[in-house]
Amino acid sequence: MRLKILLLGPNGQVGWELQRSLAPLGELVALDRHGTDAEGGCGDLTQLEALRQTVLAMRPDVIVNAAAHTAVDKAESEPELARTLNALAPGVLAEAAHGVGALLVHYSTDYVFDGTGTTPWAEAAPTGPLSVYGRTKLDGERAIQASGCRHLIFRTSWVYAARGGNFAKTMLRLAAERERLTVIDDQFGAPTGADLIADVTAHAIRQVLQRPQDAGTYHLAAAGETTWNGYARHVIETARRLRPEMALAVQDVAAVPTSAFPTPAQRPHNSRLDTTRLQQTFGLRLPDWRRGVDRMLVEIL
Ligand SMILES: NC(=O)c1ccc[n+]([C@@H]2O[C@H](COP(=O)([O-])OP(=O)(O)OC[C@H]3O[C@@H](n4cnc5c(N)ncnc54)[C@H](OP(=O)(O)O)[C@@H]3O)[C@@H](O)[C@H]2O)c1
Repeated sequence: MRLKILLLGPNGQVGWELQRSLAPLGELVALDRHGTDAEGGCGDLTQLEALRQTVLAMRPDVIVNAAAHTAVDKAESEPELARTLNALAPGVLAEAAHGVGALLVHYSTDYVFDGTGTTPWAEAAPTGPLSVYGRTKLDGERAIQASGCRHLIFRTSWVYAARGGNFAKTMLRLAAERERLTVIDDQFGAPTGADLIADVTAHAIRQVLQRPQDAGTYHLAAAGETTWNGYARHVIETARRLRPEMALAVQDVAAVPTSAFPTPAQRPHNSRLDTTRLQQTFGLRLPDWRRGVDRMLVEIL
């Protein structure tokens, strides 16, 4: 059987890589927020009724939702828009998926947790979001789970991609301009490549279509852990190794607490995700975070 796959948010970090990884699985229809497909489908997550009608008319086998309100600080001042994109739209997609018997794939975040402790969070650990973004993403998860549709929800963390702006590019620009950088050293997590997320998604879709009992919520992040400071140091050291001729002025990457950079949204200190369940269920081994970051650096340098 040839699959029909509807992809929403195809131009984001994860969406862009999904266009690559999902293409071999079947007929891929990618709808961004501006575009309509030849049949008049709508990919704007604020247009809830049009979104529902799009799924009902298209009757895809799989819906992959990579669109979201991801501006964590901005969400604090536009909670209604964040709620529409992160909670209401996934709920509408889930109901429509249930109606047409589609598998819904959706992404959530480490920000559903309160960030206490030092232990990696398991899927069933108690949630406690600290921000509008985290709360609306958690509501989106709950709406999908309550709908009764077959689903895969991947909670991921610290996503980067070679395309567009990212933390590594910002650090390299600052490292060229300044002798001293100050970077937060008390938030712990694993930088996770959009390419890894997209590849695991394609693999998991194929398995769940064969084994529906493997549907559910999973943590998906690269292995190992670091802080934003450790991440910045790794980027600068690797850039110096790969491109010794690069003029990087930086001599010191100072460690500072989160409180040194006040932001509208509060972020969790412990963003470690326990990925045991995903690795065991899908027979995968998630690579160390440095593997993906180093590949991305080779691409951008
Ligand atoms: N980034 C992270 O560090 C991180 C961490 C944990 C979890 N996640 C989750 O992972 C998923 C993918 O994140 P990402 O990093 O790929 O996000 P991203 O690069 O910010 O992409 C989000 C996409 O959503 C689209 N979008 C925004 N408003 C829309 C609307 N009204 N209708 C349709 N599309 C709309 C954007 O479209 P435009 O291109 O037109 O702006 C963009 O393509 C999200 O569910 C996110 O919550 C991300």
